[in-house]
Amino acid sequence: QFGYFTYDPGFTSTASCRSDITFIDGDEGILLYRGYPIDQLAEKSSFLEVSYLLLYGELPTADQLSEFTSSITRHNMVNESLKNFFNGFHYDAHPMAMLTAVVGSLSAFYHESIDVNDPASREICAHRIIAKMPTISAAAFKHMIGEPFIYPQNTLSYTGNFLNMLFSRPNEDYEVNPIAEKALDQLLILHADHEQNASTSTVRLAGSTGTNPFAAIASGCAALWGPAHGGANEAVLNMLEEIGDVSNVPKFIDKAKDKEDPFRLMGFGHRVYKNYDPRATIIRKTCHEVLNELGMSNDPQLELAMRLEEIALQDEYFVERKLYPNVDFYSGIIYRALGIPTEFFTVLFALGRTPGWIAQWMEMSADPEQRIGRPRQIYTGAATRDYVSIDKR
Ligand code: SDX
Repeated sequence: QFGYFTYDPGFTSTASCRSDITFIDGDEGILLYRGYPIDQLAEKSSFLEVSYLLLYGELPTADQLSEFTSSITRHNMVNESLKNFFNGFHYDAHPMAMLTAVVGSLSAFYHESIDVNDPASREICAHRIIAKMPTISAAAFKHMIGEPFIYPQNTLSYTGNFLNMLFSRPNEDYEVNPIAEKALDQLLILHADHEQNASTSTVRLAGSTGTNPFAAIASGCAALWGPAHGGANEAVLNMLEEIGDVSNVPKFIDKAKDKEDPFRLMGFGHRVYKNYDPRATIIRKTCHEVLNELGMSNDPQLELAMRLEEIALQDEYFVERKLYPNVDFYSGIIYRALGIPTEFFTVLFALGRTPGWIAQWMEMSADPEQRIGRPRQIYTGAATRDYVSIDKR
């Protein structure tokens, strides 16, 4: 206790808002989107249907889903002059740098649709952001690999369209792989929302000032990029590459336990889950299924990841601190199997999290009692003192 406030370095014990959207029980490893268990949605739903659920609070009827899908499809193009934006980026720009910049720039193109106090305007912005995120993400990917941008194809599903924009080329036929489409759609569902994580809290805090939703979502992209958050999926694969072989695992476990060493076991631990992250359980199962279906069942990275998990969960340092694999531990192994490079993984996290971010922004913007966010601090600096002229210092 310091005077007025308690100090919590990660604000986990102080609720920043009320929300109807996502429920987490960190001790029991429970995750619900609008009351529906994540494992049921991952198995039975689709990413667009889950996006509708997060935005509107209920699973859509067939007509509602069809209308929502056609609205998203109608908005999947971006202003052609955004190409100049991409062409201005350095050849080796990180895709999250491009995504963060371009998402923020959408407010320069769609300013006429932004009246954050008007429910209809908020809804159209939400649809626009969900619709354009795959197009912008794929454009960042194409810039990264030096290939021409591919336009959306409205005959394809949301996720199929994204895969087509990633991998098709003007000079050859491309067929969306249904295994990849199904696996990626499930991964997007698993990343769609997660209560008040760092990037969602950033979106809500930025949005609470009344700024436009494109700027608020761009601030979420910036927060997500960090290796302690969404950047961990990229860091896990880099860590597995560095470990290389199971024989090196004990050395890395010791490094992760060494307080003098800033190294942490990437993809392990969580601010809220002190049990297995339910998403990691689902992703590990999907990993096996997808790698088998793709004829990669003895993938060395998956073997290594599983041995690393097994050894860590037998080590009392991890057991005592309740450190389990989180959503980022296995996801990158699937992304890589789908032909996606490591530095693009966090963009996929952002694509999945977009409906959650915008649903939380809509909920906050619609709340008549919503005030501007203004966290306080514990002041630990100097007491009041008088100015000293420079010749007396
Ligand atoms: C995501 O919030 C969300 O919901 C995020 C997310 C979402 O969907 O939005 O779930 C997505 O960001 C998942 C997390 C991805 N990040 C990583 O995998 C990076 C590696 N993990 C850690 O950096 C860490 O676990 C955090 C950042 C996730 C949490 O860090 P905290 O808050 O410091 O963890 P803690 O309070 O539970 O730590 C307790 C102890 C500490 O040691 P002691 O001071 O008790 O001795 O466990 C240690 C920590 O140092 N610890 C780790 C560790 N994670 C925590 N030690 C080694 N390796 C780790 N990964």
